[in-house]
Amino acid sequence: MSDTTKQRILTGLQPSGALHIGNYFAALAPQVELSKTHDDVFLMVADYHALTSVRDGAVLRGYIYDLVRDYLAAGIDPHRVTLFRQSDNPDHMELAWVLQCLVSVKFLELAHAYKDKVAKGLEANAGLFNYPMLMAADILLYNIDIVPVGEDQRQHVEYAREAVSKFNLAYGPVLKEPKELIEKTVGVVPGTDGKKMSKSYKNTIPAFGTREEIEKAVMSIVTDSTGDRPEHVFAIHKVLYEQTGRALSELDALYEEHKGKYKALKDALVNDLDTFIAPMREKRESISDAHIKEVLAAGVEKARSVSSQTLARVRDAIGISLV
Ligand code: ADP
Ligand code: TRP
Repeated sequence: MSDTTKQRILTGLQPSGALHIGNYFAALAPQVELSKTHDDVFLMVADYHALTSVRDGAVLRGYIYDLVRDYLAAGIDPHRVTLFRQSDNPDHMELAWVLQCLVSVKFLELAHAYKDKVAKGLEANAGLFNYPMLMAADILLYNIDIVPVGEDQRQHVEYAREAVSKFNLAYGPVLKEPKELIEKTVGVVPGTDGKKMSKSYKNTIPAFGTREEIEKAVMSIVTDSTGDRPEHVFAIHKVLYEQTGRALSELDALYEEHKGKYKALKDALVNDLDTFIAPMREKRESISDAHIKEVLAAGVEKARSVSSQTLARVRDAIGISLV
C-alpha cells in the first residue's frame, strides 16, 4: 500500500451555524486526527458556499469566526495545517467559472443539494445550482489527492472528478483527479428527536455549548412514557461513549441501574457531555478575533502560492493568457 501520509489532503466546512456533536464527531474530529498524521493538509472555511443559505452579513461574519475558533479549539495546529478561507482567495471563483463552462445544465440538475431542494418544492438559488463546480475548484486548485468528507458529500467529489475529465479532455492533462475518503466509523449521529441530527431540524446538541445549553438540549430529548430505557437518550449517550473510547458495558450498566428513571439518565448524559466539551469550550474562549485574522492571513498566503500556479496553467490552456 502506498504511504497515504504523504498525500495532499483538502477538506472544509461551511460556516453556516453553530456546530453540533454530529458535525464534531463525523467531520471535525476526524479532520483533526488526519491533520496530525498527514503533513500536507489544507482546511478551508467555505464561506462562499455558506452564502447559498445565509442572508445576513453580521450573522455570516460571526459564523466565520466561530468555525475557525472551533477548528483551533478542537486541536488544529495552524503551523502544520494550511487553514484558510475560501473568499480570501479569488482563484476559487475564477476556476469555478471555467469549470461551469465545461459541464452541462443537465449534469448539475442531478446534484443532490440542488435536486433535494427542488424535490421539496423550494426555490433553489443559482448559487446552489453551481455549488458543485465551486467545490470542484476548491479541490482542483491545490492538486489534491484525498478529500475526506461525509457520505453526503461523496457525489460532489465525483463531480470534481468529472470536471477534471472534461477539462483535461478539452485542453490536455492540467488538472489532477481527487479521491474522496468517506469516514465510516461514526455513521449518522441521532438528534434529540431520534432523526439525523441537523441544524435544519433544530434537534441538535451544540458541540461547544455552555453547560446550560447542553442541559437545555438534553432535557428536550424526546422520550416515550413506556419502556425502561429512553431510546433517544441512550442513542446519543452511546455515540459519546463510542467516540471517547469508553466501554459500552459500562453504559449498559448505567441504564440498568437507572431503569425507568429518565431524569437521572438525562442528568448523566449532561454530565458526560459537559465533561467532554468543557476543556475545548475553555480553549475556544481564549482565542481572540485578532488571532483568528492572523491565522487566516497566513493560511491564505500559503494557499495562494499553490493555487496561483494551477490557475496560471489553466489560463494558459484555455487561451486567456495572451502570448
Ligand atoms: P447539518 O445537517 O447540521 O446542516 P452539514 O450538512 O453542514 O450539517 O454537515 C457538515 C458535516 O457534518 C458533513 O460532513 C456531514 O456529513 C456531517 N454531519 C452532519 N450531521 C451529521 C449527523 N447527524 N451525523 C453524522 N454526520 C453528520
Ligand atoms: N460542501 C461541503 C459541505 O457542505 C463543504 C466544502 C466546500 C468542501 N468545499 C469543499 C468540502 C471542498 C471538501 C472539499 O460540507
